[in-house]
Amino acid sequence: MCGIFGYVGPRDAVKVTINGLKKLEYRGYDSSGIAGIKDGKIVHCKEVGKIAVMESKANELNLKLDVAISQTRWATHGKPSRVNAHPHFDNDHTLALVHNGIIENHSALRKALEEKGSVFVSDTDTEVVAHLISSNYDGDILKAVQQSLPVLKGNYAIALVHKNHPHQIVVAAHEMPLAIGVGKDETFVSSDTNSFGSQVQEVVFLGEGEIAVIKKDQFSLYDSSMAPISKKTKVMAQQMEDISKGEYEHYTLKEIFEQPQSLRSALLSRCLDEYGTAILEGLNFEVTELLSVERILILACGTSLHAGYVASYMLEDMARIPTQIEISSEFRYKNPVIPPRTLVIAISQSGETADTLAAVREIKAKGGRILAICNVMGSSLAREADSCLYLRAGAEIGVCSTKAFTSQVTVLTLFTLLMARMRHMSKGQGSEILQALKKLPDQVQTVLDRHDEIQALAKKYSHHDNFFFLGRHFMYPAALEGALKLKEISYINANGYPAGEMKHGPIALINADCPSITLLANKATYEKMLSNLQEVKSRNGPILAIASEGAHGLEKLADDIFYVPETIDETAVIPTSVALQLFAYYVAKERGADIDQPRNLAKSVTVE
Ligand code: AGP
Repeated sequence: MCGIFGYVGPRDAVKVTINGLKKLEYRGYDSSGIAGIKDGKIVHCKEVGKIAVMESKANELNLKLDVAISQTRWATHGKPSRVNAHPHFDNDHTLALVHNGIIENHSALRKALEEKGSVFVSDTDTEVVAHLISSNYDGDILKAVQQSLPVLKGNYAIALVHKNHPHQIVVAAHEMPLAIGVGKDETFVSSDTNSFGSQVQEVVFLGEGEIAVIKKDQFSLYDSSMAPISKKTKVMAQQMEDISKGEYEHYTLKEIFEQPQSLRSALLSRCLDEYGTAILEGLNFEVTELLSVERILILACGTSLHAGYVASYMLEDMARIPTQIEISSEFRYKNPVIPPRTLVIAISQSGETADTLAAVREIKAKGGRILAICNVMGSSLAREADSCLYLRAGAEIGVCSTKAFTSQVTVLTLFTLLMARMRHMSKGQGSEILQALKKLPDQVQTVLDRHDEIQALAKKYSHHDNFFFLGRHFMYPAALEGALKLKEISYINANGYPAGEMKHGPIALINADCPSITLLANKATYEKMLSNLQEVKSRNGPILAIASEGAHGLEKLADDIFYVPETIDETAVIPTSVALQLFAYYVAKERGADIDQPRNLAKSVTVE
């Protein structure tokens, strides 16, 4: 989490830097700060809250800087407060430093530095880096940084300014993304190239352990031993996307409503009707390699993990490939067995999720092959994977992932179809899947058109503080995802559960105050679900059912029913999830939560 933006150039460094930082707010928004050099002194401004708060303080102070570094924070070490906000300084304020990542040995370093006279003012791990570099400084800032880095355990992207070197920013990175943006007589640094916008023509990504000195019209790159490196800059792909809210009150609502379009885009030119299969540009594995895949391992976190569950069911069922799914943060601490002929699928909207990236690196070190399913072009995952299938969902700004989820399921269905058709699936079966996929955009539109019905249901249920989301087979990941949406944006305790597992303990929680959102669009398990509804009803639990049009036998069991368009079991998660996204959105609205930027969260989870 956390975003870094810095600027060296002739323009108003405060304005340029804060504008850049605002595009990184998705990485954290509990506090922010900016620092730089003015008249040979380090000057700064830090505030708690969103970047706009810090910006107005900087304006009030009439802050002017020649070079600037800034950071928007998602607290790890130390609560959100002005003193814990970045940048951090050494004792004499000779340098200011911003950091993304975690310094794991900060306690030991702090103790050692205190013994040498450092006085710490914050609770952060970052402050030790500022003091450490300062303690190694003897007039050569680059050398001080290079000597300090090997002592740090953990991961970092750092940017710092030093008052004795007023026309430059020094940056370094280890397991965290950091890019230098080259403009016309000006140079930028950022943790995400998308924040550069059209002012940057070319970019360079810092590699593992690399250090750079950034000046107005040039930058110099060094490896960890301080040997100069020359790297070719890459032309920056300009994204001309509309990232305004348009007519919508929240990005989240806009993104929910964009799904007919994002699904069409995910499918565009990827359906090969003539052969009942998929054609996937960007999938640069040889046919022989795809044919030789004997096992699949899926890695992801959060919503992407839920899309992964859907894919794991499909890959086994349709392509008959044994598929294992692992939570990235758990997987990375195992000593995994990766048998030959295993294909690893890493799913991530942002492509920057630290746990997924770490798991991917572990697999690469063992020689595994990685297919990324990702939304953000040029992200770390997209760059590090052997092959990447993009979601083409457009920028997802709301912290709550909505359109990315349905696009992930769509792209994963296409990939499964391709793998299945390369094996034993018939053309007829393949065509059925394609037909179902192609109907989805219109079916989702049908759900969206009835948003007022869902809003009324949300109003009815919004006063409850505990919910179960129950489903079986493909509706189990839908239940997990529906519960996550509700938790995340309305701060309500919601448990996604496989319906058959309720009787093994959780059913003890069912009472008149604990509604169950029951998901019945999976035809293969419909009858079983009816029995589970009976069990909930017998214990006075209120029931809101989401079922396919034409489903029978529910009327006497459920208190409320919302019917979604009928589709095959493999794709049923999509219309159901859109209904659940709207439900979570309207409940959150009823309860007055901050929907686009829920408390304690960040769009991109770049720390462990
Ligand atoms: C979803 O609404 C969440 N914001 C979160 O669970 C998210 O899906 C997770 O952090 C993984 O992110 P990624 O897809 O960018 O890797």
